Amino acid sequence: MYCGTAEFVCAPSAVRHIPVLLNECMGCLQPERGGFFADLTFGGGGHSREILEASPENQLLGMDCDPDAAQRASVLCEEFSDRFQFHDRSFSELNKVSGANEFDGVLMDLGISSFQLMEPEKGFSFRLDAPIDMRLDPRRGIWAAEFLETASEESLIRAVREYGEEKKWRRVVHAIISARGTGLLSRTISAADVVSKAVGGRSPRQRIHPATKTFQGIRIAINGELEALALRLPQAVNALKPGGVLAVISFHSLEDRMVKRFMRKLAGRPEHKHDSRMLHERSVFGEMVTTKAVIPTKEEVESNPRSRSARLRIFRKTKMEEIV
Ligand SMILES: C[S@@+](CC[C@H](N)C(=O)[O-])C[C@H]1O[C@@H](n2cnc3c(N)ncnc32)[C@H](O)[C@@H]1O
Repeated sequence: MYCGTAEFVCAPSAVRHIPVLLNECMGCLQPERGGFFADLTFGGGGHSREILEASPENQLLGMDCDPDAAQRASVLCEEFSDRFQFHDRSFSELNKVSGANEFDGVLMDLGISSFQLMEPEKGFSFRLDAPIDMRLDPRRGIWAAEFLETASEESLIRAVREYGEEKKWRRVVHAIISARGTGLLSRTISAADVVSKAVGGRSPRQRIHPATKTFQGIRIAINGELEALALRLPQAVNALKPGGVLAVISFHSLEDRMVKRFMRKLAGRPEHKHDSRMLHERSVFGEMVTTKAVIPTKEEVESNPRSRSARLRIFRKTKMEEIV
C-alpha cells in the first residue's frame, strides 16, 4: 500500500471539514456490501473514513492533488493500514494508479475543502490576508496574482463572467485591468477590495462577500477545474466494474451541467431537447440512479451552510466496454 510522499504540513487544528451529503453518498455507494472504492477528492477524508468504517472488507484508494491532504491521509493510513492507499496526485492520473473495471464505487466531491479555504498561505480566502495563490496543487501552474496581472481580457471575462457567474463582470474585469501594476492584485484582501469596489460594495442585506463569485471564477480558471472534470469523467466510469456506481458532488452550475449531460449521454438519454435519435441509435453504458440531482436537506444546510449549493448525481455502470 502506498501512503503518499508529500512532506506533511500541519493544517490549523481547529479547522474541520464536514463531509457534504454524506448519508446520501453512502446510500448510493453502499459500502456496507464490501468492495473496492475510490475517493478521488480525499480532502479531509470524511467520506473515505465512512467508507472504510462501513465494512472490514472494504479497500479504498484515495487521491488528492493538494499535497497537504497527504498529512490528513496519514491518519487513515495508520488506522486502516492494509485497506487504504493514498496518492497525492490529481485524479487525472487515476489510470496510472489503477486499471479498468476495478472499483465498486467511485466518489468525486469537487471544489475545495475547509482546510484549503482556512489556510492563509493557500490564498483562497478574502478574509485572511496572504498572497493570492489559489492553486490546488502548489507544485503546478500559475498562481492567481500572476493570472490577475497578466491574463488576456478574454481569459478574465471567462473567469469572472462564465466561471464566477458574476453579473457585474464588465465592471470587475475593468477594475482588475486598471489595478494592474499597483500591487493591489497580489494579496487576497486588497484584490477582494478591488472587486468589491467595482461591484458597489456590500449592501446591508447581502449575505455573501461581494468578491465571492469572482474569487470562485479565478480559482476555477487557474486550476483548469472544468477541463479536468470533462476529461476525467470517462476515466472514472472506465475504472468501475459493471454494477459499480459513480457519485459526483458539484458546487457550481457549470460543473453540475457537465456531470448531468455526461451521465445522461451514457444512459442513452437524449443529450438535448432536439436530439431525436432513437434509443437503439445511442450507446448505453449504464443508468442514472436518480433523474434529478440529490440536494442537501434543510437540516444539513442549517448545520453546514457550505453544503447549500451541493448537487449529487449518481450513475451505475452496466457494461464492460470502455468509453473512448
Ligand atoms: C470538497 S473537498 C473534498 C472533501 C472530502 N470529501 C471530505 O469529506 O473531506 C475537494 C478536494 O478535491 C481536491 N481536488 C480538486 N480537484 C482535484 C483534482 N483534479 N485531482 C485530485 N484532487 C482534486 C481538492 O484539493 C480538495 O481537497
